[in-house]
Amino acid sequence: MTHKVSIIGAGMTGSTSAHWLAEREIADIVLVDIVEGMPQGKALDMQEAMPIIGKDVSIVGSNDYTATEGSDIIIITAGLPRKPGMSRDDLLSTNAEIVGKAAAETLKYSPNAFYIILTNPLDTMAYLTLKKNGLPRNRVIGQAGILDSARMRAFVAMETGVSVENINCYVLGGHGDEMVPLTRHSNIAGVPLNEYIPAEKLDAIVARTRKGGGEIVSLLKTGSAFYAPAAACAQMAEAILKDKKLIVPAAAYMEGEYGLHDIFFGVPVMLGADGLEKIIEYSLNEDEKAALAKSAAAVQETHEALKNLVEF
Ligand code: APR
Repeated sequence: MTHKVSIIGAGMTGSTSAHWLAEREIADIVLVDIVEGMPQGKALDMQEAMPIIGKDVSIVGSNDYTATEGSDIIIITAGLPRKPGMSRDDLLSTNAEIVGKAAAETLKYSPNAFYIILTNPLDTMAYLTLKKNGLPRNRVIGQAGILDSARMRAFVAMETGVSVENINCYVLGGHGDEMVPLTRHSNIAGVPLNEYIPAEKLDAIVARTRKGGGEIVSLLKTGSAFYAPAAACAQMAEAILKDKKLIVPAAAYMEGEYGLHDIFFGVPVMLGADGLEKIIEYSLNEDEKAALAKSAAAVQETHEALKNLVEF
């Protein structure tokens, strides 16, 4: 393969990201974790599956960052997941230390890599990665919008019985309970959602989307979602490696767009060979603007908590 993607953290989301990526056959993959033997074991197991699915991908596991040398993309999933009763923000100080180290170490071996950040609270972990390392904003993107929008798309498909491929949903804002499912911009094959789904059912879908991560946490009890978050990471990596110019919601560093500055926030972005190539600004009504402002205030609070922990 000509491309290389390294995934830091070979737990549930990391190894599942490797799985989805290997299926796409777009890059060789390195899995790094602190647990001895685990990334090596998972990588070898996955490597042994390649003849079955017919994909020529090299998958290597390591406890050492040197294995990541020359990566095009670094996906950071290392850190603690949520347990029932925890918010994503409860993970802040532990995960800031882990993500800070993972970003600094990988940058030594892949000075030009793009970063996809999955570790929660991900808006703030992306902020940490960009600020601490002085990276330009096109190289650091937080995963969340694809996942949150996919959850909404799945719920709409379950409600209407229409193919997921026909369902377009856009969830913006921070990756927390204040996220903003934009029903007015969402549609089924071009027809607005509110023409398909009665208002109270649509409200229920919006509420379920906002709590989508928590719903999985309370079912799993010992960890958080991994199939869908990992699938989102694979889609983002593919969009960059194939220069697709794919427009998806993702967490981006804001420089005035949507009236926001110095904050990572979920907005529609274009992903291509230059990473985050563009932020797309939707025209919003007053209610939508107010909902986004509320979500931005929640993200800003976590950014401020980070600034009390880490010096930039
Ligand atoms: N360096 C490398 N790996 C680390 C480090 C570190 N310093 N610290 C922890 N890890 C590894 C753990 O050993 C574990 O294998 O990170 C992995 C995390 O995997 P899981 O516990 O399975 O958690 P996961 O479900 O993958 O979630 C990871 O992503 O979606 C977010 O909220 C989630 O913040 C969480 C992160």
